[in-house]
Amino acid sequence: MRSDNGQDIPAMQEISQNASHAGPALLTRLYCLRHPMSLLFFKRVLANPIRVGYIVPSSPFLTRKTAGFIDFPKALTVVELGPGEGCHTRRILRRMTPGSRLILIELDDHFVAHLKEQFVDDARVSVVHADALHLSETLIGMGASEPDYIVSGIPFTIMSRELRDRLLANIVMAMGPNSRFITYQASLQISDHQDFDLVRRKHCLLNVPPLHVMELRKSSCACACA
Ligand SMILES: C[S@@+](CC[C@H](N)C(=O)[O-])C[C@H]1O[C@@H](n2cnc3c(N)ncnc32)[C@H](O)[C@@H]1O
Repeated sequence: MRSDNGQDIPAMQEISQNASHAGPALLTRLYCLRHPMSLLFFKRVLANPIRVGYIVPSSPFLTRKTAGFIDFPKALTVVELGPGEGCHTRRILRRMTPGSRLILIELDDHFVAHLKEQFVDDARVSVVHADALHLSETLIGMGASEPDYIVSGIPFTIMSRELRDRLLANIVMAMGPNSRFITYQASLQISDHQDFDLVRRKHCLLNVPPLHVMELRKSSCACACA
């Protein structure tokens, strides 16, 4: 198989089979060859390791599992936090209905420029250069409060507790009783948060690193306090 820029690229199956024997550097190289856009991702990790979190974008196995949690006929407004170079975005857009809306909220200006260029022709997509810390007011300003789904790639498990709590408080504030929060994380920690009830979860081994995908809803306690 060949990539867009003509390089020979190993099949995902081959990458997965080699995964247990390969070191992180080799694995990163294989991913970058398979997905040329991973080079942008890798550069942004070097520029801001804590904010970007992982060394390569989510694998196709993880994007498929995450999109599998979305009920697309009902997903009229979807918000994606931290789309990065857009691997989940592309998967979600393939299944979203024509009249639906996908709002991408990304903090990194290089990713924002890349997302704008990539999705310029899709009228369903709005790319917003913003901090998810202001999620609630951003969505109100766009007439998109209480979205059907918030999908988040922000690496909550590796950031400071104070920042994580502020981000999660804002996500809860942006959600309505029927909104669903879908996030992929290295630990299940968020599922114990008092403001969320876990609806379901899956584990994705074929990702660097392996991650849990969780679907959460606003807890009755959080709904009562709103
Ligand atoms: C682990 S990467 C995930 C990228 C992509 N979704 C994927 O799965 O490959 C985390 C992303 O969240 C973005 N991010 C981190 N903190 C953010 C914040 N407070 N607001 C918006 N985006 C943020 C980073 O810039 C990065 O694009």
